[in-house]
Amino acid sequence: MQNMAERRKKLMEEEKKVKEAMEHVKHKIAVFSGKGGVGKTTVAVNLAYALSLKGYKTGLLDADIHGPNVPKMLGIEDARIYGDENGILPIEVNENLRVISLAFMLEKDVPVIWRGPLKTAAIRQFLAEVKWGELDYLIADLPPGTGDEVLSIAQMIPGAEAIIVTTPQDVALLDSRRAVNFARKLGMNVLGIIENMSGFRCPHCGKEINLFKIGGGERAAKELGIDFLGRIPIDEKIVIDGDEGKPFVTEENEASKAFMEIVKKIEEKA
Ligand SMILES: Nc1ncnc2c1ncn2[C@@H]1O[C@H](COP(=O)(O)OP(=O)(O)OP(=O)(O)O)[C@@H](O)[C@H]1O
Ligand SMILES: [Mg+2]
Repeated sequence: MQNMAERRKKLMEEEKKVKEAMEHVKHKIAVFSGKGGVGKTTVAVNLAYALSLKGYKTGLLDADIHGPNVPKMLGIEDARIYGDENGILPIEVNENLRVISLAFMLEKDVPVIWRGPLKTAAIRQFLAEVKWGELDYLIADLPPGTGDEVLSIAQMIPGAEAIIVTTPQDVALLDSRRAVNFARKLGMNVLGIIENMSGFRCPHCGKEINLFKIGGGERAAKELGIDFLGRIPIDEKIVIDGDEGKPFVTEENEASKAFMEIVKKIEEKA
């Protein structure tokens, strides 16, 4: 019984700490999707990176417990973090961007098989103990879907606003509608939908091919009464850069231009 009471007390203390830490963050944005593999991490990493280049103090929280890919996409997968009684220091990617991920504490290639409560406790600890400092933006890359785990992580970030990433085809849209409703149920303000992998320009003939159809994200946004933030085309460079740990927003191409337009909209809204 006492154990229960102690656990409850610890949880409440941690929640209070998270709340206090989050008071130093102006805007919190959680990147969601109804399903996996649609480009959440790509969006979260590049959004955070772009904001940092624009001079905003930015934090990036890799809250994907099963597949913490943020460090890989930033080329810092060998970085390690350590905590002491003063807290945990995030990894500094540049002057304005700080990153935290479970991957900084784990052995490479070993799957995370902790039970649910432990995993979410790790994220809570990151939110409570990491010395983010004053931030203009905190971007959280959430695990895929709308399950219990995503729910508990999203609930830990008070006042977070949501961005939903989707691909254009109907099956993906069903999931993204679910994600929008999920965020709304949590009382989150939904900043809008991003349609990723939207059209592909053939590098040989210049013709646009709609591999996964096109325009579905915009339709879903209209239907749900939320903003459409923009389309990101399929681009081989996004895959290569992701694998090489380089944010694709640093490229000069159609995809990065489209992405910077999305960043501008987010900046205006959040
Ligand atoms: N617009 C795009 N064009 C080409 N490849 C892309 C694009 N967006 C994302 N990708 C690639 O698709 C793969 C999946 O992207 P990403 O890891 O960002 O998705 P995710 O939604 O975070 O996946 P998960 O649900 O597993 O966390 C990556 O290899 C990434 O480089
Ligand atoms: Mg991901």
